[in-house]
Amino acid sequence: MRPDQVYQLLRNLTSPVVAVTCERAGKRNGMISDSAVRASIVPTIPRLSVFIHKFNFSHDVIFETGRFVLHLLRSDQLELVHKLGFVSGRDRDKLADVPHALGRLGAPVLDDCYAHFECRVANVMDTGSSTCFLGDVIEVGHGRADAPRGDVMTAAHFRGHMPAAWRKEYEDLLAAAQRFAAERSRDIRAVTWKGLRP
Ligand SMILES: Cc1cc2nc3c(=O)[nH]c(=O)nc-3n(C[C@H](O)[C@H](O)[C@H](O)COP(=O)(O)O)c2cc1C
Repeated sequence: MRPDQVYQLLRNLTSPVVAVTCERAGKRNGMISDSAVRASIVPTIPRLSVFIHKFNFSHDVIFETGRFVLHLLRSDQLELVHKLGFVSGRDRDKLADVPHALGRLGAPVLDDCYAHFECRVANVMDTGSSTCFLGDVIEVGHGRADAPRGDVMTAAHFRGHMPAAWRKEYEDLLAAAQRFAAERSRDIRAVTWKGLRP
């Protein structure tokens, strides 16, 4: 099978489109991911995992603070995906006009979302180009009480409904991420998660 066919088949395994927020030394940030999944079957030990590329600003913030908030989004929140997922927090304060408050762990919780999970990093796995963060869910919420309910945004929904004007930028960003990942994916390190700094 050709690599592009394999890639399209693997796309069936992508998760919903989620917003991942974090905070370090007063700087708040958010990004978009479609690689988060449930990582525990034990109701009393809720866990999830998410792959974050090393070139993303959020990667270093989460690695250094050991906490993040993962938000399921509604399918009508395309604008938020554009705002958080197409530009880096190194270049812009992406949460400046996104209503939010700091949660129990001190990371931003967005007012408008389908649901959110506040997570403390339990462990990490290096993939060479990214880190898979395993998070213990320590708090859950349902977004604003008056928010419309709607469906959870899937990756297929986003790709099928993003405005035409965004598509070239999206494909260019994806191609750049793929080039980075192609270079780095075989360089897997033995990374030990040592927990939070004192
Ligand atoms: C639909 C979609 C899915 C994405 N999935 C991921 C992902 O799973 N992992 C990742 O590291 N970046 C992913 N990205 C890219 C980041 O959201 C993007 O690089 C963002 O600008 C990073 O912001 P930061 O540098 O402020 O952390 C995705 C972007 C979009 C639009």
